[in-house]
Amino acid sequence: MMKKIMLIMAGTAGALGLSLGSIQGAEKEIDLSKLPPASTKANVTFAQDIKPLFDKGCVMCHGPRSAKGNLHLDTREGVLKGSEDGPVVVTGNGAKSLLVHSLAGLSRKPMPPQPKSGGQSRSFSAADIGLVRAWIDQGAK
Ligand code: HEC
Repeated sequence: MMKKIMLIMAGTAGALGLSLGSIQGAEKEIDLSKLPPASTKANVTFAQDIKPLFDKGCVMCHGPRSAKGNLHLDTREGVLKGSEDGPVVVTGNGAKSLLVHSLAGLSRKPMPPQPKSGGQSRSFSAADIGLVRAWIDQGAK
C-alpha cells in the first residue's frame, strides 16, 4: 500500500519536473534557425511599416481599449513598454525578441492565438515577420 503511494508521488513529481523543464526550455532555447530572416528593407519604421500589420492582425486584442496581457500594440510606445510580464522587444536584436518569437510560433504563446485556442486571425507571413525583425534590428524607430 505505502509502496504504491510512494510510486504515485514519484510519478507526479517526475511529470511536473518534466513539464516545468520544457516550459522554461521553450523560452530559453529558441531555435533561431527557424525564424524567418530579417527583411533587407532599409529605414523600417513603426508608423510606416509595422503599424499597418498590427492594426490588421493584433489590435483587436492589443488595442487602446482592451489590451490582453496589458500589451498595447497600437503605438510604438506601447510595443516598447511591453506586457504585464515584461518587455517583448530587445531593441537592436529582433532574433532575441519575444514579439518575433510569438509571431513565428516559437514561443509558449504563439500570436495571434491559433484557432484551436479561440483565435481567428491569420498568422503573419514569413515576409511580415522578417519586417518586424528588421524593424527591431534597426532600433525600433
Ligand atoms: C484573439 C486575441 C489576440 C490576438 C488577435 C492577438 N493576441 Fe497577443 N495575446 C493575447 C492574449 C490573451 C495574451 C496574454 C496571454 C497570457 O498572458 O496568457 C497575449 C499576449 C501577447 C504577447 C505576450 C506573450 C507572452 O508570452 O508573454 C505578445 C508578444 C503578443 N500577445 C503579441 C501579439 C501580436 C504581435 C499579435 C498580432 C499578430 C497578437 N498578439 C494578436 C491575445 C491576442
